[in-house]
Amino acid sequence: MKIAVLCSGNGSNLQAIIDAVKKGYIPAEIALVVSDNKDAFALSRAKSAKIETLVLNPKDFKGREDFDKEIVRHLRKKGVGLVVLAGFMRLMSPYFIKEYKDRVMNIHPALLPSFKGTCGIKDALEYGVKVTGPTVHFVDDKLDHGAIILQKAVEVKDDDTEETLLERVHKEEHRIFPEAIKLFVEGRLKIEGRRVRIG
Ligand code: GRF
Repeated sequence: MKIAVLCSGNGSNLQAIIDAVKKGYIPAEIALVVSDNKDAFALSRAKSAKIETLVLNPKDFKGREDFDKEIVRHLRKKGVGLVVLAGFMRLMSPYFIKEYKDRVMNIHPALLPSFKGTCGIKDALEYGVKVTGPTVHFVDDKLDHGAIILQKAVEVKDDDTEETLLERVHKEEHRIFPEAIKLFVEGRLKIEGRRVRIG
């Protein structure tokens, strides 16, 4: 199966996926890395791994749907079967979600449905929860809402700062994201309403 990874920033999750593909843990090929940010470090990671990259500037498009249409055109050309959002800081349009229904995954740094949005670590810390952790979920038309594939609990320590908590959450992200992708590629994920069963 061919995978596309969409990133906007550092790309540490992309790196974990690249490593997992290299090791043969994920039996698939990363056919394309797409970014909406030409300066994303994720692009350097992709280039080092000799993976094709595509940079699209949202400002060059009339709107979200036009931008997504261009991405979908490239994904189709490559025969991509799974789209992975790894720190992609844009909401996908209904068009994109329809085109890739049940074939788009995202990683979120909090235990959904808690702390949706872009500050999952900070919000969890400020709220004072004792346990947080990453969620891998399918993407639907609502923010951080689709059916949950995997989650991992991470204890919040009394002396945690955003940085220390982020570090431990990331460590788990780098485990469960490749695992969820592997399960998808192996055809072991079955969506039943909001529940995802692992076969
Ligand atoms: C991760 O914390 C992920 O949960 C969130 O964006 C961050 C991306 O980090 N969606 P990286 O670019 O993979 O290092």
